[in-house]
Amino acid sequence: MKTSAQQKWKNLAYVAAILVVSFLMTVFSVACLAKDYYIFSYYELYLPMTVMVFIILITLYYYILKMDNESDEYISVLKRCLICYSTIFIAVIISAVLYSYFTPHSVIISSVTMMVTMLLNKKLGVFCTFVSMGVMMAIFVTSSYVLDIDNFNLDIIGCLLTSMIMSLCMVFLLGREYSRLRLTWGTILLGIITTPLSAVYSIFGHGVSLVTIASSFFGRLVGVMISVAIFILLLPLYETIFAVWTNFKLAEVCSPSQPLLKELREKAPGTYNHCVSVANLVESCADAIDLNPYMARACAYFHDVGKMRHPEYFTENQKDGRNPHDDLIPEVSVNMITAHVKDGVKILKEHHMPETIIKAAYEHHGDATVPYFYMKAQSITEDELSNYTYRYNARKPTTKYSALVMICDICEAIMRSKTPQDYEQMRAIVDNVITSKLNEGQFDDCTLTVKDFVIIKDTICDVIPSTLHKRIDYDKAKERR
Ligand SMILES: [Fe+2]
Ligand SMILES: [Fe+2]
Repeated sequence: MKTSAQQKWKNLAYVAAILVVSFLMTVFSVACLAKDYYIFSYYELYLPMTVMVFIILITLYYYILKMDNESDEYISVLKRCLICYSTIFIAVIISAVLYSYFTPHSVIISSVTMMVTMLLNKKLGVFCTFVSMGVMMAIFVTSSYVLDIDNFNLDIIGCLLTSMIMSLCMVFLLGREYSRLRLTWGTILLGIITTPLSAVYSIFGHGVSLVTIASSFFGRLVGVMISVAIFILLLPLYETIFAVWTNFKLAEVCSPSQPLLKELREKAPGTYNHCVSVANLVESCADAIDLNPYMARACAYFHDVGKMRHPEYFTENQKDGRNPHDDLIPEVSVNMITAHVKDGVKILKEHHMPETIIKAAYEHHGDATVPYFYMKAQSITEDELSNYTYRYNARKPTTKYSALVMICDICEAIMRSKTPQDYEQMRAIVDNVITSKLNEGQFDDCTLTVKDFVIIKDTICDVIPSTLHKRIDYDKAKERR
């Protein structure tokens, strides 16, 4: 009861804040368009325009609240709203300035599309493009009629449409693999390609003349450049302020020169190689089940980072056949092994890593038993031992990323120690890993579906031979699939 009341007040606060944003957007835009900064000059315009802008902006809030299921869970509704509304606000005000002091051809919508697509997701990027278009249409067209601005004819509607079409093309042309550079150049190129469209509207309004065509071409180009400049300047700022991990930032964190990865490579080279192999598997699986492959790779790279506190206790880092566990009782050995989960969390928190990566480090063993040491302890006592002492004292995977790391981690380790001779043997190992973890209930708290598990199995079997350089008889396998 209390929570629903709280939610009601929260919603009211959001609605009030959006009303204030609508009012400010209207007042500043009208002042820029009329080139009159005495804000009470056009008070009769404010109420109808604010209502129009508010109706458009409120749809964005309900979209974020009810329909946006693609943004990462760790980005709260408040953060999403702040990102969307502030980028729209900046674009509207800059467009109003450009419209009244330069040319309507320079209005910008693409900065909103680029920022929201990069920071949140494509669908929201498209929705915000329509919202920006609606707000600018409401403010600019109404103001032009009422204020009788000289250059109003078909120009503004045409320019807004051109800018919107360009922004939408940009979003749909973006593949899953995009870089800052590709996006910047893609936008400039699309801006140039769509310029003739802008010139067509201009010709309808002003007739065919070289000045009309040249001014629309130049105006569009300036608009595109300003959009790209805003994007380049604001993106790093937004990444820091809102602690949002874009694919660019995730790619940077997985680069071999990243200090934490460098430290892992120097202190625990075996673990580092294991993490890289697991990352290849996890990334391919994530791609196959529509998760973010950049986030998946980052989760796998850092899942065993805690092992660098005591690298020599993990087989992949042992040299010359020396195993420190030979001198320890099983209880102590288990503590040394399981501690890497909590050590990892501590290290990742110290390095301000995103929540999803920290969760993957904490949850990648779930609360499973360490079978080797449990059996070793059982072999030296006659009593029936409880496996409670020999478990990871952590949590079962709560995200699909953690679950993927769990599956690929075990598969990679088994494939390294056993060499499957053909596809059937490899498939049997992967099947066995997933079935045993399902039976243990390790995937009870995450949302992987039966279909996801089938895709994951197929992907692992496809990728493992190249990851571990195994030669597997594929012809037989393909025949039987
Ligand atoms: Fe681990
Ligand atoms: Fe691992």
